[in-house]
Amino acid sequence: MGVRANSRPGTRQPFTGMRRALAVGALSVLGAVTAFAAVSGPADAAASTLGAAAAQSGRYFGTAISASKLGDSQYTTIANREFNMITAENEMKIDATEPNRGQFNFTNGDRIYNWAVQNGKQVRGHTLAWHQQQPGWMQSLSGSSLRQAMIDHINGVMSHYKGKIAYWDVVNEAFDDSNGGRRDSNLQRTGNDWIEVAFRTARAADPAAKLCYNDYNIDNWSWAKTQGVYNMVRDFKSRGVPIDCVGLQSHFNSQSAYNSNYRTTISSFAALGVDVAITELDIQGGSAQTYANVTNDCLAVPRCVGITVWGVRDSDSWLGANTSPLLFDSSGNKKAAYTSVLNALNAAPPVSPSPSPSVSPSQSPSQSPSQSPSQSPSQSPSQSPSQSPSAEPGGCSATMRTVNSWPGGFQSEVTVTAGSAPVNGWTVNWTWPGGQSISSLWNGQQTVSGSNVTVRNAPYNGSISAGGSTTLGFTGNGSAATPSVTCTSP
Ligand code: G3I
Repeated sequence: MGVRANSRPGTRQPFTGMRRALAVGALSVLGAVTAFAAVSGPADAAASTLGAAAAQSGRYFGTAISASKLGDSQYTTIANREFNMITAENEMKIDATEPNRGQFNFTNGDRIYNWAVQNGKQVRGHTLAWHQQQPGWMQSLSGSSLRQAMIDHINGVMSHYKGKIAYWDVVNEAFDDSNGGRRDSNLQRTGNDWIEVAFRTARAADPAAKLCYNDYNIDNWSWAKTQGVYNMVRDFKSRGVPIDCVGLQSHFNSQSAYNSNYRTTISSFAALGVDVAITELDIQGGSAQTYANVTNDCLAVPRCVGITVWGVRDSDSWLGANTSPLLFDSSGNKKAAYTSVLNALNAAPPVSPSPSPSVSPSQSPSQSPSQSPSQSPSQSPSQSPSQSPSAEPGGCSATMRTVNSWPGGFQSEVTVTAGSAPVNGWTVNWTWPGGQSISSLWNGQQTVSGSNVTVRNAPYNGSISAGGSTTLGFTGNGSAATPSVTCTSP
């Protein structure tokens, strides 16, 4: 793929759609994903991989993965070692998943999903509604038939991955590059409400997934496009349109350069009550200092939940290897930028039990923090959750259920429920009955002592409204078990 100068407002070049025909088929999908940030290991030990280092502060570090490279052992070795959140670079997009109307194809999406889950990783879904990479049949639709096709597509893809995707990029790149308004597209021409319809459809299709708006050139707080997206998210939150997160793609180059107001952008979105994720990071030229700045800006905002780089090695980048945009060179060696990111992650202050409010710039309206809905995927009859005494007023209760299991491993979810009063900080505890161990945990901070496991809330999910709930998840080694779980809150 040739090098493309990335986007200055108004200059971004569209890609042509994927030409590859995908065989229809369905893989059995192993594992399930219900939440996000992996957490493992003590916070005071320097971690040696990006994922483990990010987990120390309750965050994830991810990469885009291409299904066509899963046979490249250097690629998979690095990806497996370093990253704990995976985005399919192209394989879950509209043209890949619904090449013919009503005929869904998850062959390559499932290859990536299964690789990720079998290696203990979470998955970001990318993307459901976008003006690019639409299959030909969709490009030719308009008006109400296109609107219906969008809804059907969201339902078709999200039902396939129901309960398995941590975050979905529901809508991608819907804003104009320069004027702060909506981009003209066939989707936009179906009516200005298409984005909120997409989000409402997505919430109904998979209540467990966090729903994100994702875009490029919304990194610089002073740009009109950033303000346009910010105003949309503020409007959605005020009207109850279900949006949980904003993805800052963060493709940085000389025309769309990192700016020191990036932290303000992150904290401003977070102050609206949404998670913020850096979803497609690459930096042309590969400046180690800029990579450190980006990492530190995310670490400074509690609701910045993780960073995803858009590819593993420079040679894997959509920008071409000669722009040196990623953290590993084309031979798989760690670059200076890698070391600066790792050091920044390792220098992050450990997570505290009570979330501190994110910085709210003067432009931000006063909003209550975290408004994420309590989300708990439906339980199948085969799963027997552990019992927990009902919560005292002001206290909390917790149950564990097995989400999935396979020979030698399993994935579980713990639901923490507040009693009749809000909870501000929680700790759950259980004892493994048969030598089980946790390989990766998200949405909490774990301490392990022999067979006893204690998990405190992550910085962003300590507050639970009265009667509300939140979940943490983990993958484990051994036979699936559902020991009883105790919950305490200060
Ligand atoms: O696989 C075919 C190959 O068989 C064929 O010979 C070749 C000919 O052009 O095309 C190959 O497909 C390409 C595909 O990437 C895989 O490499 C497509 O043409 C090309 O359009 C596609 O580009 C992708 C692009 O999105 C499409 O918009 C990039 O890989 C992908 O990195 C890029 O990702 C986007 C995010 O989804 C959204 N944000 C911006 C980001 C960068 O543009």
